[in-house]
Amino acid sequence: MKKKVRKAVFPVGGLGTRFLPATKAMPKEMLTLVDKPLIQYAIEEAAAAGIEEFILVTSRAKSSMEDHFDYPYELAKTLEERGKTAELALLEKMLPAAGRVVYTRQQKPLGLGHAVWCARDLVGDEPFAVLLPDDVILGDKPCLSQMVEAHEATQGNIVAVMEVPREHTKRYGVLDIAEDNGKLVSVKGLVEKPDPKDAPSTLTIIGRYILLPEIWSHLDRHEKGAGGEIQLTDAMAKMIGGKPFHGLRFEGTRYDCGDKLGWLEANIAFALARPDLADSMRDILRRFSSR
Ligand code: UTP
Repeated sequence: MKKKVRKAVFPVGGLGTRFLPATKAMPKEMLTLVDKPLIQYAIEEAAAAGIEEFILVTSRAKSSMEDHFDYPYELAKTLEERGKTAELALLEKMLPAAGRVVYTRQQKPLGLGHAVWCARDLVGDEPFAVLLPDDVILGDKPCLSQMVEAHEATQGNIVAVMEVPREHTKRYGVLDIAEDNGKLVSVKGLVEKPDPKDAPSTLTIIGRYILLPEIWSHLDRHEKGAGGEIQLTDAMAKMIGGKPFHGLRFEGTRYDCGDKLGWLEANIAFALARPDLADSMRDILRRFSSR
């Protein structure tokens, strides 16, 4: 029987060392793009794709994310007293339904595979999504919605993929391609962070996945891979050959907001995409380019 993708895991236990000192006491996922934290973009993308349960795998110093999705009684009262009804409505609209956000902790940052594994009992025996909030995608149709459609067609595992320059393969999980129809790519192997000379292709995985529950038996082994971390890519690679496994060339532009320049660029792109900010943002950019 076909099972709907109802749950999404947000692994947010990483250290965010590329963004120090900003991430010393604040989670990287609370960095803002224009006026919303990264985690809110990810939750909204998941909700738009039909996700009903949001599982955040957090760690030390990450409790501001829990506060962000809580009801702000004192602030709400003050906004009400001051007649700031639009701001109050905005805060109420962004709250997920009661009981639909679940938090668990990854006690040690042992790797992305380990962070996902921490959610095993909360997900259980059904297909689920994984979203890395520091990857943000700007486009007409949310990336995860495109992936859910691909999953409904294949009933298999789906990873979002994009081409990168060969010298960048060391930063990503890379596809060994079996067949490529342009949009959907069937996969015969996956390699985490290969040297450019060894990379089987330049088609790489970004932070969006739809995975079948078969992944749990592979993650259970806690095998360490690249960088001594328990890698999600290695567990995914073990599933190839069983149920279908595809990469989806998604529509949209991905920004790596875990990286300083990627985050700065994303702020400009998201401001330009906002009707209330685009003209002023263009003026600012013009002033900088004429310096
Ligand atoms: P990154 O590779 O971006 O690592 O993790 P990081 O620690 O967050 O950041 P840098 O590289 O030190 O700056 C990719 C994703 O996996 C999660 C991160 O939170 C991020 O969403 N992750 C990584 C965990 O949840 N736990 C881990 O042990 C490692």
